[in-house]
Amino acid sequence: MNLGTDTTTTSITVRVPAKVNVQLAVGAARPDGFHDLANVFLAVGLHDEVTATPADTLRITAEGHDVDRIPLDRTNLAARAAELLAARHGIEPRVHLHIRKDIPVAGGMAGGSADAAAALLACDTLWSTGSTREELLALCAELGSDVPFSLVGGAALGRGRGELLTPLPVGGTFHWVFAVADGGLSTPAVYGEFDRLTAGTAVPEPEPAPDLLAALESGDATALAASLTNDLQPAALSLCPPLTATLSAGTTAGALAALVSGSGPTTAFLVKDAETAREVASALLASGTCRQTRVAEGPVAGATVL
Ligand code: C5P
Repeated sequence: MNLGTDTTTTSITVRVPAKVNVQLAVGAARPDGFHDLANVFLAVGLHDEVTATPADTLRITAEGHDVDRIPLDRTNLAARAAELLAARHGIEPRVHLHIRKDIPVAGGMAGGSADAAAALLACDTLWSTGSTREELLALCAELGSDVPFSLVGGAALGRGRGELLTPLPVGGTFHWVFAVADGGLSTPAVYGEFDRLTAGTAVPEPEPAPDLLAALESGDATALAASLTNDLQPAALSLCPPLTATLSAGTTAGALAALVSGSGPTTAFLVKDAETAREVASALLASGTCRQTRVAEGPVAGATVL
């Protein structure tokens, strides 16, 4: 077998979903700078794919929207995932990772985390390193707070900094529209703005909302719409004020509810069915308050080898 080229050997491709946070309750900053969360994740059907192919050395390539805004060096979270797995097994990360991006870049939908989870699973399969689910989840948590959820998918409550997951039952399919904004927001900057906006106030301990968990379990979109919350939304709107107009345009167009997705700047609109999703997506685009719209359903499966 020739390990020196990308074309003569087996490749492994992993498909991995985006997420939206249906609840993001944020506590006060911890001594380590992170924030304790009650983070209810829902995986939605926008996917990246990561293909791992044997190569002489670690190399990253990417295709898709806005890939000029992701690093192609070893600071890419997918590269760090390959390096971490290789180091754990005392091998060299001789792999070419090709990322096909469909998840908005720096959009608050865990695109970078998704690629890390996908790279980890793809390399573990390619290298036959045979990690258990628990070992993969531990490596994911080392890579970033949202990475374990990208592996698991479905719906889950994330505690700690978001990495300690409990799967949640979901009783139906929820329909969403996502409005992609111009540019991205840095997650640390949004948490920093949260700290600034909450300075001098008593920030409550983050707790999952019983009404929200019940709405997820029943599959009732109207009930879920009434209980969506994101404690990072004021911070994201403060750093990116035009998002307020996007949120209004979506609710005017018939969305049941609108919120910033995670740390933003993507905005998420829960709608009652697939037809309404298409209507709200067209109206949002026509409003001129966003760059692009996407329609997706959730929950969907986590990172999967194709
Ligand atoms: O874990 P991750 O690398 O994705 O986090 C990126 C940044 O987001 C952290 O460096 C921190 O500034 C912020 N963060 C936080 N509290 C969390 C998760 C992330 O403050 N629970």
